[in-house]
Amino acid sequence: MKSILLSFIALITIILTASLFMVFSGTFNVSSNWEDPPLLEWLLVETRENSVKKRAKSIKEQGRITGEQSQLNNGFRSYREMCANCHSSPGQAKSPIAVGLNPTPPDLTKKRDHEMSASELFWVIKYGIRMTGMPAWGQTHKDGEIWDIVAFLKILPDLKSTDYLDLDRTLEAGHGHSGVSDHHINTTKQAHEGHNSHHDAVPHSH
Ligand code: HEC
Repeated sequence: MKSILLSFIALITIILTASLFMVFSGTFNVSSNWEDPPLLEWLLVETRENSVKKRAKSIKEQGRITGEQSQLNNGFRSYREMCANCHSSPGQAKSPIAVGLNPTPPDLTKKRDHEMSASELFWVIKYGIRMTGMPAWGQTHKDGEIWDIVAFLKILPDLKSTDYLDLDRTLEAGHGHSGVSDHHINTTKQAHEGHNSHHDAVPHSH
């Protein structure tokens, strides 16, 4: 019994010493440049997926996706401004941000094996995923605006790059948002064209 206890204490001491060594010696490489070993990657992906599933369960998606063009237009505006840089747009090469991030942001323009439900998408967009680079947009956007993005994500894999470019041409920059008035910088079309309400396909609220 005594020897088991001693071995246990020795083991804990070794683990603690090794952990402290990692913290203070600088040996651990915090760079984004190396891939997680397969076991660690499995642990992180499983933890993320189960966490999102559990939390999204209580979110009711009924009636949130209206299928109206105005919702898709609003979702497109937000996607172009806030997401495309990391998650790609149809027919475009990955941006330097997407290439440099680890984990890599998934390409949301492609159909995926495990499609997320609308509530799961809503949860992830609203609350973000810690330690990955995925921001929590719920701090600056209303739930309705987040559902608009979810609606757009559902049709995104079916959009051809020409469809996407058409939307880009016809819909003015900007999107509805709450509270924080100028949290995004309008350097795109609006800034170049002065005013552009003449080609706003669908009016949007601010
Ligand atoms: C700065 C880069 C960045 C921006 C901007 C960004 N994301 Fe993400 N996103 C990420 C990263 C990184 C992940 C996590 C990937 C992982 O865990 O493997 C992620 C994960 C996700 C996921 C979960 C995918 C999955 O398979 O679990 C969704 C959905 C998502 N983002 C949607 C969006 C939407 C919608 C926006 C815009 C409102 C957005 N993201 C903006 C980087 C970004």
